[in-house]
Amino acid sequence: MTIPKRVRIVEVGPRDGLQNEKQTVGTSTKVQLISQLASAGLTNIEAGSFVSPKWVPQMAGSDEVFNIISSNLQPTYPEIIFSALTPNKIGMNRALEYGIKEVAVFAAASESFSQKNINCSIKESLERFNPVMAKARRNNIRVRGYVSCVLGCPYEGNIDPVHVAEVTHQLLDMGCYEVSLGDTIGVGTPATTAALLSELLSRISADKLAMHMHDTYGQALANILISLQMGISVIDSAVAGLGGCPYAKGASGNVASEDLIYMLNGMGIEHGVDLDKLLIAGNTISTALNRTNGSKVANALLSAG
Ligand code: HMG
Ligand code: MG
Repeated sequence: MTIPKRVRIVEVGPRDGLQNEKQTVGTSTKVQLISQLASAGLTNIEAGSFVSPKWVPQMAGSDEVFNIISSNLQPTYPEIIFSALTPNKIGMNRALEYGIKEVAVFAAASESFSQKNINCSIKESLERFNPVMAKARRNNIRVRGYVSCVLGCPYEGNIDPVHVAEVTHQLLDMGCYEVSLGDTIGVGTPATTAALLSELLSRISADKLAMHMHDTYGQALANILISLQMGISVIDSAVAGLGGCPYAKGASGNVASEDLIYMLNGMGIEHGVDLDKLLIAGNTISTALNRTNGSKVANALLSAG
């Protein structure tokens, strides 16, 4: 298969990133980040999470964030999709308050991770998504699906690609327009990524899949390259490599958006993002969080002046 000419980047920093930062930032800092990402040209921004604030306190302010998005940012950037995680109908009802265009449901390919992350089995999680899907259909909202632990689980170790394919199929059958495959703890390698995609692509078309690679073991870009070579053209990333998953100990952030864009630039693949503006977003949020920027490209360009 040939490498795609254009890649759609789903920026997950404001959600996947900030949900796992030790320091909780306020609404104005979150909105500033989202606004800088929008101005950098990102067209898909996961801006928050309507989960239980007891489970993920960092996302408790998502109502305020989406209130500002709906009144200020969405009218300024009508083409941008600002999305949020909705694990159940309570989450979906919250999302509906803000005229959201897209939500995401999240399941796992590992039973233990499903229990730890959303307090129910995989089967129960899919049942909980039914009312979310029904409301989405009625309100013309697109639903994205996630499958976690596709290349390994912090509690169960290796995960069978056949099992990942089953959960992915179920999410697509329920009405998700695309499923993002999460290497939640970043343990995959190009070999395991290729084996997973060979299994999935034997029954699912490449345009229904996205890659969500955490960079814990420094394998994310290599795994993304293999995925591009196998025809995948939607990649999730987090500015400054922010975050991780609170229910996967030690998991670091997603591949840094700056690093992904540098690689795509070098390969002549279009993406529509202005790297200079993205660098400003990554450096601003890293300063606000009082942490080093997790993007190698951002640090290299900073020291090169
Ligand atoms: P539960 O405790 O089993 O739910 O949590 P429950 O239905 O029994 O409700 C308990 C309480 O929570 C009730 O309140 C509900 O009203 C409230 P109380 O009566 O005790 O006052 N509640 C809610 N409040 C606000 N919004 C809601 C909501 N739902 C219930 N939506 C639940 C189940 C799913 C809610 C919980 O486990 C949860 O919120 N988990 C969040 C997990 C999470 O956000 N994980 C990180 C995101 S996933 C991820 O990072 C992976 C990904 O990036 C891909 C990858 O990397 O692999 C996507
Ligand atoms: Mg994630």
